[in-house]
Amino acid sequence: MKFDFFNEHTPPLIGVDISSSSVKMVELSEGIKGAYRIESYAIAPLVKDAVVDGNIASLEQVGEAVKRAWKLMGTREKRVAVALPVAAVISKKVLMQKGLREEDMELQVEAEANQYIPFSLDEVNIDFQVLGDSPASPDEVEVIIAASRKEKIQDREAAAEAAGLKVVIMDVETYATEAAYRLAANQLPNAGRDQTVMIVDVGAVMMHINVLHNNQSVYIREQNFGGAQLTTEIQRRFGLSSEEAEVAKRKGGLPDSYESEVLRPFVQSMAIEVARALQFFTSSTQFNRVDHIMLAGGCASIPGVDLAVSERTSVNTIVANPFVSMSLSAKIKQQYLAQDAPSLMIACGLALRRFE
Ligand SMILES: Nc1ncnc2c1ncn2[C@@H]1O[C@H](COP(=O)(O)OP(=O)(O)OP(=O)(O)O)[C@@H](O)[C@H]1O
Ligand SMILES: [Mg+2]
Repeated sequence: MKFDFFNEHTPPLIGVDISSSSVKMVELSEGIKGAYRIESYAIAPLVKDAVVDGNIASLEQVGEAVKRAWKLMGTREKRVAVALPVAAVISKKVLMQKGLREEDMELQVEAEANQYIPFSLDEVNIDFQVLGDSPASPDEVEVIIAASRKEKIQDREAAAEAAGLKVVIMDVETYATEAAYRLAANQLPNAGRDQTVMIVDVGAVMMHINVLHNNQSVYIREQNFGGAQLTTEIQRRFGLSSEEAEVAKRKGGLPDSYESEVLRPFVQSMAIEVARALQFFTSSTQFNRVDHIMLAGGCASIPGVDLAVSERTSVNTIVANPFVSMSLSAKIKQQYLAQDAPSLMIACGLALRRFE
């Protein structure tokens, strides 16, 4: 067994998010009065289909993008934290007797894992963490067990290694999002306490939904929807390559008809998707409303999406910025960071693992 999903003793490191459209990196340091400071960040685009459904399909392309991102960082740090997509991880909460020795816990974790993991145990890596006392029974503690196929972990290690980097933490994307959320929650009244917040991360191909109540995750879903649809439409309408369309999306320069005939309809369909996800959440759980929607992922940077979503859902909607309370190193421009921040949630959450 290998225990590192919940590794608690960590050296300086860089957070590395390997996702379908790019490799994103964030390095943080501790600034004055315990506040964090962002040292540098980088986004290196990936060609289409190098990462599919969170799996590395082209090790060569991904390794090369990791290398490009690392060069852009201008750092010397070679240790990295990476994350697995939630679909690659099976996790389960179990109860264990209080006060067990580490070895006895490991044995029991193995026995539990044997029951619910559909693979042979030598094909998986397992990790566990004690969450705290069981609210229901005073003699027991709640333990979370997480397991993933070894090959999923090895692919990410190999991509880092191809760029001369070493993985020291293997996290899960949803945990990293939640870690970054704890900082972005400073944007909310009362820092999100006692409230229900739906984080909607709209990336290139996927919409990742994570609902937190009183800052604890209560619901996770994914659905197919993302900015690649907008890129494809730009390509089709204006006869551009996908690289050109990506640049135009961020920097502008498209004909006037783009705004009204392509961008607005996309923003409206994004708002409809969010409203649908919200309705699905409220109708399938004990919760009948959310207090805030926090938009993340690259598509949250489209001007006006927050307004479109709040109009459609009647829920206060903000764009995530995990760096809201951080100081910035001299080489980072506030204006660029503000635009990239929503897509850096996972990389930021991973970079935070250094401070646990
Ligand atoms: N400033 C911007 N304006 C418009 N769209 C943007 C902007 N920045 C990024 N995007 C779009 O956001 C998408 C990438 O977002 P993100 O980096 O969150 O995706 P990802 O994490 O790679 O994808 P996934 O989560 O689906 O694997 C792309 O479609 C990109 O074109
Ligand atoms: Mg993403």
